[in-house]
Amino acid sequence: MSLQPHGGFLVQAFHPEKEMTSIHKEIELDAISLSDLELIAIGGYSPIEGFLTQADYESVVEKSRLASGIVWSIPITLPVTKEKAATLQPGEEVKLVYQGETYGVIQVADIFEPNKRTEALLVYGTEDLAHPGVHKLHERPAIYVGGKITLIKRLAQKFPTYSFDPVETRQLFASKGWQTIVGFQTRNPVHRAHEYIQKAALETIDGLFLNPLVGETKSDDVSAAIRMESYKILLKNYYPENRVQLGVFPAAMRYAGPREAIFHALVRKNYGCTHFIVGRDHAGVGDYYGTYDAQKIFEQFTEDELGIVPLKFEHSFYCQQCEGMATTKTCPHDSSAHIILSGTKVREMLRNGEVPPSTFSRKEVVDVLIKGMQKEVVK
Ligand code: ADX
Repeated sequence: MSLQPHGGFLVQAFHPEKEMTSIHKEIELDAISLSDLELIAIGGYSPIEGFLTQADYESVVEKSRLASGIVWSIPITLPVTKEKAATLQPGEEVKLVYQGETYGVIQVADIFEPNKRTEALLVYGTEDLAHPGVHKLHERPAIYVGGKITLIKRLAQKFPTYSFDPVETRQLFASKGWQTIVGFQTRNPVHRAHEYIQKAALETIDGLFLNPLVGETKSDDVSAAIRMESYKILLKNYYPENRVQLGVFPAAMRYAGPREAIFHALVRKNYGCTHFIVGRDHAGVGDYYGTYDAQKIFEQFTEDELGIVPLKFEHSFYCQQCEGMATTKTCPHDSSAHIILSGTKVREMLRNGEVPPSTFSRKEVVDVLIKGMQKEVVK
């Protein structure tokens, strides 16, 4: 498997020297479009060079492909209000501003009104406003602006030691001599099930890129700061140092299940991964998606089109009779012997002052979570 970026080239659109004096109009970004702006510019979303134009947007929503035919499953959009849209013209350059600071410029290609119900149904698989991704989609303004972007200012890094651009991760992996690299997406602390599938992958893959998402998540997910502490302590105590690289993924979580699994894989390809772990209900929320829908969607595309190999794992658990982690593929025992906890259940336990068992989460991780949550409650 080659280490080609998606679409064949790594987009590089960070140009702090860009002449700005003749650009007067502004679009105010939200946290999602701000992180998308930077990810486009550093090549995380290659081959996308800007917020999607109408042709690309409609093609992505309907076919999970850009208008060129290249696979892309999540619309990367720049929503603005109707009032703002009325002031914009195709062809002009507009500043992209967040909390009073200019971070970039868009060369406006088009301005269009999306059908958000169709977007919800096709991308998220539901129109239900209780779905956090669908809720966010409708909460954002009504009109989309498409066009190539330039980034002129980098975002403040919350985790500077663990922030790498795709160019840098590619160099890092090469310097470690890794030929095969498996990417791991998570929005949770790493529990025993995660550790099990990561280590199962590491039995045959050279290196693990532990790439937790630290952009916007729903409010009841564990905060990125606490999670980062849990990853560090876990890696220090239980992983061979020369086989793992921790680095943050600054995107927002969409909770789009199968569509987001494809997106997550393609972005990790841009970071230099050859393989990507897709376990049970990847990027899912509630019971909107079937347990393995996010694995099945990979069958819609050829390996060549994707250029990254999904490593699909069954739902894993601790089996008291096997005395170890397992899945139904490897364990013959009745489910009454299985310890199955979800991230949601663990958060509930922690909030109620209960300590999750070590068969679910390493003690060091639980300690970090308890301490972190106490601190955040006190704040
Ligand atoms: S998410 O970003 O995909 O929502 P989460 O932290 O829940 O993050 O899961 C990270 C990865 O681990 C996903 O690929 C998910 O499918 C997988 N995963 C989570 N729990 C399990 C489990 N018990 N068994 C197998 N795979 C799992």
